[in-house]
Amino acid sequence: MPFKEIRADGIGGNLIKRIRDQWMLIGAGTKGRANSMIGSWGLMGEMWGRDVAVCVVRPQRFTYEFMETNGTYALSFLPGEYRSVLNSFGTRSGREINKVEGGPLTPAYRQGALYYEEAELVLFCRKLYYQDFDQNLFLDKAIVDSCYGDGDFHRAYYGEILEVLVKE
Ligand SMILES: Cc1cc2nc3c(=O)[nH]c(=O)nc-3n(C[C@H](O)[C@H](O)[C@H](O)COP(=O)(O)O)c2cc1C
Repeated sequence: MPFKEIRADGIGGNLIKRIRDQWMLIGAGTKGRANSMIGSWGLMGEMWGRDVAVCVVRPQRFTYEFMETNGTYALSFLPGEYRSVLNSFGTRSGREINKVEGGPLTPAYRQGALYYEEAELVLFCRKLYYQDFDQNLFLDKAIVDSCYGDGDFHRAYYGEILEVLVKE
């Protein structure tokens, strides 16, 4: 089924549910050097007069290397039938399993970023800003204890939404 382009403010569904429950595949890199992982924490909204999507990646993720070396990334939202594949992309590293060519999904590349043909919604983003979470800045210290016991604070990437594709 072909994709069609829509405006960012035309994305359907509840964005909290999409990110938290549907999950997104955060894809970065180009053919031959790309990877993706599941993200279920993030934000979408308006920042600096632009449509922005934020995702958060811990430094030990293989995907982190691709987020760092590329200026763009893609957020692919897949239908429920791919849940078990998604789960494997969120529990196994691209250092040990294949998440691109020859893997269980069909990789594609656009705007300098990896996305998947099976997606029903894809956001292509250009990095504008990043921010490493700092334990001293958490006002609710319980978050530090519950989420960062290993000291592996996320890097948050703020990306301008360049293009949004949905399945027709
Ligand atoms: C439901 C779910 C949500 C996740 N969300 C995030 C996230 O937002 N940020 C993050 O760094 N890791 C997250 N992870 C963990 C990574 O997806 C996981 O460590 C993955 O294997 C990393 O793959 P990579 O090493 O190929 O990058 C999540 C995992 C699951 C199962």
